[in-house]
Amino acid sequence: MPYDIKVNGAIRAVDVDGDTPLLWVLRDVLGMTGTKFGCGMALCGACTVHVDGVAVRSCITPIDSVGQSQITTIEAIGATAAGARIQKAWLDREVVQCGYCQSGQIMSASALLASNPRPTDSDIDDAMSGNICRCGTYVRIREAIKQASQLSGRGG
Ligand code: FES
Ligand code: FES
Repeated sequence: MPYDIKVNGAIRAVDVDGDTPLLWVLRDVLGMTGTKFGCGMALCGACTVHVDGVAVRSCITPIDSVGQSQITTIEAIGATAAGARIQKAWLDREVVQCGYCQSGQIMSASALLASNPRPTDSDIDDAMSGNICRCGTYVRIREAIKQASQLSGRGG
């Protein structure tokens, strides 16, 4: 079935079954492999993207539920103010280890910062608790979110 979906500011035409997960469409149909497959059951957060600015698990989001919502992926998150701050902080703090979970971590952190520029520790815990990191980068993730939040409201 044909769908026109909005991905990173562009309209993309895809032809898939309506119950196809958004993750499959991004990776296998559109070739956007920055969003990762981990568990396929909303348990790990590796597949996190934004739908109208909200962090969602694309592995359990059927394409026919997306409609005309704006989908943002890791490939374009750096073009948003919160995403740019998060990515800079990630580099400054050298957060990444193997990297597999990190696009999902960055997407969840960016959604948090965009909706809550000054998150408390418990806000960070709540927002990030669904993103698993086998390498245990949690301490640096928290530090990077705090660094990024300190830059919030300074023009970019
Ligand atoms: S792949 Fe979607 S939450 Fe794990
Ligand atoms: S950096 Fe390796 S799983 Fe998170």
